[in-house]
Amino acid sequence: MLLAHTAVMTEPLFVQLHHQDGAALRDELARGLLGNPASVPPKFLYDALGSRLFDAITELPEYYPTRTERTIFDAHAVEMAAIAGRGRTLVDLGAGNCEKAARLFGVLEPLRYVAVDISVEYLRHALSSLQRRHPGIEMVGVGADFSSTLTLPPEAGGGERLLFYPGSSIGNFTPGEALRFLRQARAASGAGGALLIGVDLVKPTAVLELAYDDPLKVTAAFNLNLLRRLNALLGCDARIDDFEHVALFNECGSRIEMHLQARRALTLRWPGGERALAAGERIHTENSYKYTVDGFERLLRDAGFAHTPHWTDAHQWFAVFLAF
Ligand SMILES: C[S@@+](CC[C@H](N)C(=O)[O-])C[C@H]1O[C@@H](n2cnc3c(N)ncnc32)[C@H](O)[C@@H]1O
Repeated sequence: MLLAHTAVMTEPLFVQLHHQDGAALRDELARGLLGNPASVPPKFLYDALGSRLFDAITELPEYYPTRTERTIFDAHAVEMAAIAGRGRTLVDLGAGNCEKAARLFGVLEPLRYVAVDISVEYLRHALSSLQRRHPGIEMVGVGADFSSTLTLPPEAGGGERLLFYPGSSIGNFTPGEALRFLRQARAASGAGGALLIGVDLVKPTAVLELAYDDPLKVTAAFNLNLLRRLNALLGCDARIDDFEHVALFNECGSRIEMHLQARRALTLRWPGGERALAAGERIHTENSYKYTVDGFERLLRDAGFAHTPHWTDAHQWFAVFLAF
């Protein structure tokens, strides 16, 4: 049941949906490393340090998505709220530091805020401090991995929800996976609910590649942090010095790809497995698909959303869709 709007909340409720099954994680990592090409799923980029490094990336002048998306919300959030409806449960998917949603509290006036993220330790910290700033909003943190299934616990409340998926995180899925995720998001938003989603658009290659390979090397550190995770989770013997960060725009696939490229021939070893890499061979660590407005609109329609108003910035670099 929804708590009275006047209730003063001091601590958010926290629900852990996915439990770190060590054997399953090791199996997933080993399968990726043994693949051709070798890969690591991008969700492993986010531990507490990875989340902090991502926050630092969003401060970089080269990383246009965060500030461009912010200009769209600054200009149009009131209009979005008028369509989406106020006073709902706001469900933030991949909430990170929760700040994007918090900036919208004034216009969306959520009764309840549900923040979902795989980076559990970081989410707990961010949500606790947000709850203290907004004691009138019931807050629920959900530790979950939604890469294969988007499930919300009963504590997220029922009824009409506004799902919030900013930052073009949808771009980390292949278009096929994105379609499946959007269908699940539509179901999770409930009858009368909606999805507010940020989408990065196709733009000149130089702008894209600089955003994912900044001169300060913050994105490189974010990517290389995966090696620390491989060592911690899989018991791997990767050395950070042996790899370099590579980011390139794959025009045919319409996606930025991030890789870790071996500086020399080497063999990664872990209990029960090994993977030899030639000098220059890469481990594929992230895709970030770039869409056209029409292409993403089609994807939303295919996922079952009948209405898809959207807003963009002056350069048409980024779009925010409200789908319902
Ligand atoms: C690109 S960041 C976006 C953070 C924030 N929403 C923003 O727009 O600035 C992606 C966020 O999604 C979370 N995330 C990534 N993969 C996830 C997964 N499979 N399940 C749940 N959360 C995930 C990360 O921990 C991170 O906080």
